[in-house]
Amino acid sequence: MPRHIHVSVAWPYANGDLHVGHLAGAYLPADIFARYHRLKGDRVLMVSGSDSHGTPITIEADRRGVSARSIFEHYHERFLLTQQKIGISYDLFTHTDTENHHRIAQDFFLLLLERGYLYKETQQLLYSERERRFLPDRYVEGECYICHYPEARGDQCDNCGNLLEAIKLINPHSKNYPDDLLVVREAEHYFIDLSKFTPDLLAYIDSHAHHWRPNVTAFSRNFINEGLRGRPITRDIDWGIPVPLEGWDDKRLYVWFEAVMGYFTASVEWAKNTGQPDAWKDWWYNPEARIYNFIGKDNIPFHTVIWPAELMGVSGIYNEGSDTPINLPYDVPANEFMNIEGKQFSKSRNWAIWLPDILERYQADAIRYYVAMTFPERADSDFSWEGFLSRVNGELVAAWGNLVNRMLSFAYKRFDGRVPEPGALTDADVEIINRVELGFDEVGKLIEQVKLREALQAAMALVREANGYLDRRAPWKTIKEDPEDAARSVYTILRVIDNLKILLAPFLPHSAQELHSYLGYDGQLFGDLTIAEYHESERSHKALVYDGSKAIGRWEPSNLPQGQALREPKALFIKLEPEIVERERAYLGAPRDEQPIRV
Ligand code: MF3
Ligand code: ZN
Repeated sequence: MPRHIHVSVAWPYANGDLHVGHLAGAYLPADIFARYHRLKGDRVLMVSGSDSHGTPITIEADRRGVSARSIFEHYHERFLLTQQKIGISYDLFTHTDTENHHRIAQDFFLLLLERGYLYKETQQLLYSERERRFLPDRYVEGECYICHYPEARGDQCDNCGNLLEAIKLINPHSKNYPDDLLVVREAEHYFIDLSKFTPDLLAYIDSHAHHWRPNVTAFSRNFINEGLRGRPITRDIDWGIPVPLEGWDDKRLYVWFEAVMGYFTASVEWAKNTGQPDAWKDWWYNPEARIYNFIGKDNIPFHTVIWPAELMGVSGIYNEGSDTPINLPYDVPANEFMNIEGKQFSKSRNWAIWLPDILERYQADAIRYYVAMTFPERADSDFSWEGFLSRVNGELVAAWGNLVNRMLSFAYKRFDGRVPEPGALTDADVEIINRVELGFDEVGKLIEQVKLREALQAAMALVREANGYLDRRAPWKTIKEDPEDAARSVYTILRVIDNLKILLAPFLPHSAQELHSYLGYDGQLFGDLTIAEYHESERSHKALVYDGSKAIGRWEPSNLPQGQALREPKALFIKLEPEIVERERAYLGAPRDEQPIRV
């Protein structure tokens, strides 16, 4: 029975290019997980999009002297190209400024209001006399009142990860004008009454704790046990989704309140775009479906507390006549951070590895391989260029790429461009075939548990076993005295390679496809990833779209046809020069050219 798997991926703020931290934290794990489930024959819906609202966008717009809309459109476009290139196979990667997203977010707001989960309250806020406006949280900095980190933002502390109230910061000051005197003024806002959800949230976490990562459970329980209070969900800002009430024209919905809804709204948009308007319900109102949220650790409370509370609060929405509750995330496999050469990522200091840049210089699968081998699944990890060089050359090229190239070229030249017809196999042949076939369960189980780094290690251990087998059987020697025996071992190794190709395909989809064709197969393991344009009533938007209808890859042992005609092979991977290490390190911390923003 195909399972319904929803892969919800954190929505990147469209205020800067994507970097390896994004890839390692959420997008690549999500993509590997989704591709695996598709190969398994499950029904996958993987969605995300550009988080286009809120102060992260307006701050960047102010800095560049352009409108918030131009900033988000500029980066949204780049997100599409970057992710297409590295192969993040979203069924839909849209953005939060669509009419669809606005409308549904407003419906959520109104339903929560109607059901008594929202209340209005006068709030004390920091007001800038100089700018003549209330300062959004992200425009405020000060000392964290929990851990005393000196540069906490008004909304969250990057040091201890806690969500903060700007007004409680010690020595709050304006980010833009540090000498500006901030005063406290009152304004009316809507709040979501999280305390109403406390018992249900605790029960929700208890019932999932056995398969959640321990840090995710611990952080979430702690967050709730510290006491859930009302959280403001409107803001004094002009960029965002209007509050759907009269007299609220100068305020907008808080970006976090609506961005998480994107998992739902993008599912609805996908269903509409694909001409099956109710299909999203197969994931959101199907008790058997599982929703996985791939995020970085700084986003945990939004996904294990606030978003589930919003969902509980609107349960039943758009599903009249049924009392099936809406689905909450089944798992939130949050990753820790990936540092760069031992230091924390910093956009302002350009201590970052930008994906559009490295995709110009390295193969997508080489990047995917190194990042997946370095996933910060249990603890922070480190991207180092030495590590990249040694893993790509020593593992991807030397162990896997060379195995493939040597044997495909050998078969192509010495066996008349065909898969040999081996006759009866030896015990050693059968043994390596069986060993690798067991990998489907072994690697598959690890992927299903979202232990992706271990899954890749397990697949690579099989690659090494295959190399060991080949060294012992040495067809390049036996071909002279005993060509029939060489045919057996070459057939065996091609069949093993064919299976390893599938075990590695979720991690290395591009090279797996190339190999698939060298082995003489036609057709695509995965579907197409294209950029599409959709029109709503007033605006249109571009999106990245995965179409799996042509995909034929299956997560199961192959039976490589004897005598199948091979295609002339080329090397799968490019060996790196040691000089890249110094060259790449020199980019870190140095100024990076900014792309002009079209306005
Ligand atoms: N834009 C946020 C960030 O980059 C993540 C939002 S996840 C969402 O940290 F689900 F809320 F969109
Ligand atoms: Zn702190």
